[in-house]
Order: sequence, then C-alpha cells, then structure tokens
Amino acid sequence: QITALTAGSIGKDGYRHYMEKELHEHPLVIGQTLQRMIDPATRKVVLPDLPFDLATVPRAVITACGSAFYAGMVGRYWLEEIARLPVDIDVASEMRYRDPPLSAGSLGLLISQSGETADTLAALRSLREKAIHILSVLNVEHSTMARESDVMLGTVAGPEISVASTKAFTAQLTVLACLTIATARARGTLDPIGEEELVAALMDLPSRAAEVFNQGNAIRQMATIVAEARDVLYLGRGSMFPVAMEGALKLKEISYIHAEAYAAGEMKHGPISLIDRTVPIVASVPSTPLFDKTLSNLQEAKARGGRLLVFTDTQGADRVSAIAEQIVVLPRVHDFVAPILQTIPVQMLAYEVAVLKGTDVDQPRNLAKSVTVE
Ligand code: AGP
Repeated sequence: QITALTAGSIGKDGYRHYMEKELHEHPLVIGQTLQRMIDPATRKVVLPDLPFDLATVPRAVITACGSAFYAGMVGRYWLEEIARLPVDIDVASEMRYRDPPLSAGSLGLLISQSGETADTLAALRSLREKAIHILSVLNVEHSTMARESDVMLGTVAGPEISVASTKAFTAQLTVLACLTIATARARGTLDPIGEEELVAALMDLPSRAAEVFNQGNAIRQMATIVAEARDVLYLGRGSMFPVAMEGALKLKEISYIHAEAYAAGEMKHGPISLIDRTVPIVASVPSTPLFDKTLSNLQEAKARGGRLLVFTDTQGADRVSAIAEQIVVLPRVHDFVAPILQTIPVQMLAYEVAVLKGTDVDQPRNLAKSVTVE
C-alpha cells in the first residue's frame, strides 16, 4: 500500500518552498550554533582546541564566495574593531591567484556552507602553501575543506536545501561573532565586562530574530514595489554594507532582477546618476552610530526621485518613516549583532519578490547549490 506523500513528509513542513522553511529556521539555527559555541554555565565563548594561539596571530586573511564572502565581510569589521586584528579579505576566485605577503603564524579564515566550493578550496590550498594556519567555518563537517583545514568551526544550520543560502548565513555570522569574542579576549582587547555584554546580545538574538516574522506584511508590501523594478540599489554603511551586498545577491539569484549594493557613502561617486522613480532603493539602517550619515545619503537619493524602502529598528523608526515610502521596523538590538538581525528581512524580501515573479525559488535558473567547478 503506497501512502500519499504529504507536504510535511517531503521535508517542507507545510512551507511553500524549502527557502521559506529555512528562513523560518533562522532563530533555531542561531540558537543551536550559540549552544555549540558558548558555555551556558559561564556564558563564555569556548572554542575547540586550536593548533595555534589567537593571541599571537599577526593578521588574518578571510576568503570565500558569494553569500559566505559577505559573511566574511561582516567578520572583518568585527575582528578589526573588537579584536584589533588586521584583516585582509577577498573573494576566493581572486585570492587563489593573488600572492598576498603573509608572515608566518597568520590565519587563513575560510567560510563555506558546502565545504566543496572549487574556488574556496583552491584558495585554501594556495594559502596552505604559505605555511599559515587554516581555520574553516563550515556547515558540512565531513567535507573536503574540513579535511584540509587545521581546524573547523561548525555552523549548526542543518542541511540547507534551497540554492539560495539563508540560515547558513546567519549561522556563519554567529560563529564569526563568537570567534571575534574569543580572539579579542586572547588579544586583551575585550575585558570580562565587555565579553559579558556581547555574549548577552548574542544570547538574546534568537528571540529577537523570531520577532522579525511579525513584519511579514510590511515586507510583502515592499516586495510589490521591488517586483515591478528592473534595477534596484541596496545601500548600507559599516557592517550593514555586507548586509546590503547579501540582500542584492539574494534578489538577483532568485528573482532575476538586477540589483547592486553600494556602501551608502559611495553613492555620490557615480551611482546616484542611476536614480529616478523607477529605481527602488533598499537600505538597512538600524540606529547604530552610522544612522545619521546613512539617513543623509537616503535623503540625497530621495531628492532625485528615489523610492526609499528602508529596514530600521524601533529607535530609528520615526526619523526613517519621515522620508521612506515603506519601512520595516525590527527590534532594537546591540550594534554588534545588528548585521545578523538585519540580514533576515532582506532575505525575506528577496523571497517574497521571487514568489511574486513566479520563479523557481528553490532551484533558480543557471545556479547550483555548490559550485564545485571553476
Ligand atoms: C548564496 O545564496 C549562493 N547560493 C552562493 O553565492 C553561495 O553562497 C556561494 O556559491 C558559496 O557557496 P558555499 O558557501 O557552499 O561555499
């Protein structure tokens, strides 16, 4: 007797797409990854034994592809600002052919959901030849990159089926945030009080992330504007710039709409000439110290007819709603974890646009889940 396959039994648990299901797993995945990285009794970040001393690493070089690279961009801001560690960063398809001068004891920090991406693997191998330490942040722990790394930090995201990465991205950020705290502690740039504050912000994140889904209607309203566009501009400053990059990539890969992300301050150096009423501007502007600067960039865009679709938080809502056509208001969280929280709605926006466009959300045209060829 053949039992009919129900929606739940094929793994979508009643969601329309694997991507929708995986978007809703953000809170769970952030929490699970924190459980692996933070001792609940001491509330201290605990890393596995490292074959090197984080206190004496002279510099790090971060390399990855696609969304994983944007996670690395956020990690660079954190490691520089909090751990005072000099960081170089480049996409793996460039890094593999570069020959960065790296002194012995430097750290190669590679990020990959699959652990099989050809460019990232090639970059790993080229960095290994420099006799530096190789640490990989991976979601597939028995992957080629895991076998070829000195140490692996696992993202506890579970299998990610949709080609567009979602939950693995916030899990990568969670691991990088914990690595930053451990590195800062080792380098003496973060005292116990500071560590407690950052860990508390991380521990609070799963419930803040769950609140984002209350903004579903506002995000779907934004999606009706974006779905009509041919070109979209994403803006962000500081650690929100990689969030803008991630949001633009998600829109491109699943809705096939052209989108570009820019550091908000860069707009006046050219891209602003693109702006008219046909170009929506999507911006991630939580109330961090860069809020005012970013808002003035948005006002410049509005003055040229740009339609502002802005993600902010409860503290920024009043000033943003005075200039934006549409806003989505997230909970106010510590600046440190704002890029992790702000990632969720920009990914949701891309998903809702793709649904409106009727594209194959989970298996977009021309894309593979893991790019194992050059
Ligand atoms: C992200 O949505 C894309 N599917 C793609 O950019 C992906 O992040 C990139 O190919 C890297 O894959 P990896 O994390 O498995 O190395």
